Amino acid sequence: MRISVIGCGYLGAVHAAAMASIGHEVVGVDVDVKKIDMLSRGEAPFFEPGLQEILTEGIASGRLSFTSDLAAASGAQVHFIGVGTPQQKEGSAADLTYVDAAIDGLRPFLRAGDVVAGKSTVPVGTAARLAERIAPTGATLVWNPEFLREGWAVQDTVDPDRLVAGIPAGAAGERAASILRAVYHPAVAKDTPFIVTDYATAELVKVAANAFLATKISFINAMAEIAEVTGADVTQLADAIGHDVRIGRRFLGAGIGFGGGCLPKDIRAFAARAEELGRGESVSFLREVDAINLRRRERAVQLTVDALGGSVFTKRITVLGAAFKPHSDDVRDSPALDVAVRLHGLGASVTITDPAAIPNARRLHPHLNYVTDRDDALRDADAVLLVTEWDEYRRELSPEHAATLTTGRVAIDGRNGWDAAAWRAAGWAYYGMGRP
Ligand code: UDX
Repeated sequence: MRISVIGCGYLGAVHAAAMASIGHEVVGVDVDVKKIDMLSRGEAPFFEPGLQEILTEGIASGRLSFTSDLAAASGAQVHFIGVGTPQQKEGSAADLTYVDAAIDGLRPFLRAGDVVAGKSTVPVGTAARLAERIAPTGATLVWNPEFLREGWAVQDTVDPDRLVAGIPAGAAGERAASILRAVYHPAVAKDTPFIVTDYATAELVKVAANAFLATKISFINAMAEIAEVTGADVTQLADAIGHDVRIGRRFLGAGIGFGGGCLPKDIRAFAARAEELGRGESVSFLREVDAINLRRRERAVQLTVDALGGSVFTKRITVLGAAFKPHSDDVRDSPALDVAVRLHGLGASVTITDPAAIPNARRLHPHLNYVTDRDDALRDADAVLLVTEWDEYRRELSPEHAATLTTGRVAIDGRNGWDAAAWRAAGWAYYGMGRP
């Protein structure tokens, strides 16, 4: 099938390459000429495991191409919209500028019978509005939210745990749903749940999923706050409640909280949209979820200050991690980087290391000190903070080895990723999040 993908960021670039990898003929379109040049050369513009391979393969096969000219979308049967919906500069609602621009730009190239599949995360009600805008072309809009996790994006795109299609009532909608089934043929052949619904439900599925995940993380972080004043251990608490299959252990990792390009802005946009709909109180708990989450960053900073005797001024602090999570170079709303910036603001001499995210972190905070090599970064530190649980820092760094490099023996575990007993046995003062 001939497919266009409008927007080649974390979502669109992976989607385009993944669609080519399952046999489609795909053109990716983006206004960012630099990004398009990289992708056209077969270079992944960001770190995402598996992306490089399918890009190279897709371009070599001739099935995958990239351009900044929207006219190239002409002739495709399915057009995916994968542009960003960031938080507005003023306020917490989603900025739909790029979605609107993509639809308007695409409109002249749409033919009757084409399918436009929206993948961007949008406020409920957007699809119905966009459907009206493309109605004169005879194309059909479906809303096909994306649930991919960074770090697992290729796998999540090719082999998702469910597919959702919000379609309009009537024959055109049914036809569009069957075209989408053909697009995702390998997943459909595996009997992956394929939920066909209306626009509003499809849009809400996405924000509800992210709201639930964010709530789960903030729930356990709230328990960490209680553990901190009672001497309880939140990691054992999470293990114990996680054995209940109704609860489950995943996403009960207490620490410095969630960040990234999705969860924070999506829960804020959801709350803003609910306000507009006159149902603000229905999701008012999301404000609390957000507040708990942000408090954890401050808590990690305070823990460090306390551990270093009341001040971090001129103390050498090594921060292990900058990405918002491992297996990603994404630093958007990264709690790890935020903690580093706050410590720097308190006068600490902060050194940041990360296996993938240093270039992005440096672009955002050029005044901070970055060291690529982990051991070089650790050298002479007074304190060490684990803030992104890369294997290099969590599993592969032994407390004994770390102790040969640092001056101080203060370990702050912002992700509860280290074995507290092992670090203490090696002579470290170990501080976890919500752990005694
Ligand atoms: C998320 C959703 O998981 C995905 O379905 C959606 O499509 C986009 O948003 P992503 O942003 O890639 O994906 O990251 P995710 O794995 O959900 O992690 C989000 C943040 O939560 C990270 O900062 C992570 O470190 C943090 N987290 C996760 C915790 O603090 N504790 C946990 O137990 C799990």
